[in-house]
Amino acid sequence: MIIAETIEQIRDAVESLRQQGKTVGLIPTMGALHQGHMSLVRQARQQCDAVVVTIFVNPTQFGPQEDLEAYPRPFEQDAALCLQAGVDLIFSPSPDEMYGQGGLTWVTVEKLTETLCGESRPTHFRGVTTVCTKLFNIVQPDKAFFGQKDAQQVIVIQRMVQDLNMPLEIVVCPTIRENDGLAVSSRNQYLTPDERKYAPALYQTLQWCEGEVQTGQRQATALIDGMTRQVNRIPGAEIDYIRIVDAQTLGNAEILRDRVLVALAVRLGRARLIDNILVDVGG
Ligand code: PAF
Repeated sequence: MIIAETIEQIRDAVESLRQQGKTVGLIPTMGALHQGHMSLVRQARQQCDAVVVTIFVNPTQFGPQEDLEAYPRPFEQDAALCLQAGVDLIFSPSPDEMYGQGGLTWVTVEKLTETLCGESRPTHFRGVTTVCTKLFNIVQPDKAFFGQKDAQQVIVIQRMVQDLNMPLEIVVCPTIRENDGLAVSSRNQYLTPDERKYAPALYQTLQWCEGEVQTGQRQATALIDGMTRQVNRIPGAEIDYIRIVDAQTLGNAEILRDRVLVALAVRLGRARLIDNILVDVGG
């Protein structure tokens, strides 16, 4: 496994894979790798000849009051996990290598980024789409793999790739959960033991909503009220949003139909947790 720290090194390494006729799968990450990332690596290994993992805590997607400094950076552990999982290349650039003097160019997807997480994190998705564009340009993968847990991120990146005719396929992989249902996330390590005990209630709330839809409930307000009551019972939980939106446009669904995304963001102590489920409502 090669660890590249510069753009030149990763380009040379990818070029040599290309010369061997290999297809390349990319998994962009901010490190602190967990089972969710490892499931993306497994998918990439199944679908591509060579796998590149990028480890870069991207400063441009953090707001001024967010956890950029505190974000975990266990690089040795991440590299060991990648080695074990059969990753071919790690690209782990410094912020200076990625942004030099500071870029003047941003990639912005409109509308889809103005709702849900974009409301409380107004510059977040612009940072994500800009860094992903840079990573796609640097590595030029055939496919890039993302987790459904970051549902809005996936929709935004898919739209960017479509709108800008980027020559790669975005592969979306299922959310990986702990045994008690909590979606695996690097930010779960911010939870105290008590918060960790309460956190699975978020997924249970989403499952409750799905159950209600299955028994015929179609009124978004009733479902959101029910979920809000449940989340408010979690000690210390502060709701950022609980929303039911169209799974493609992210527009609010009032009467549920087709396919909806039920999504929530809740602060629990130091952690801001997000989770979602896709629900097929039918006609
Ligand atoms: O999902 C993440 O970890 C980040 O948003 C990503 C896609 C690696 C961009 O920095």
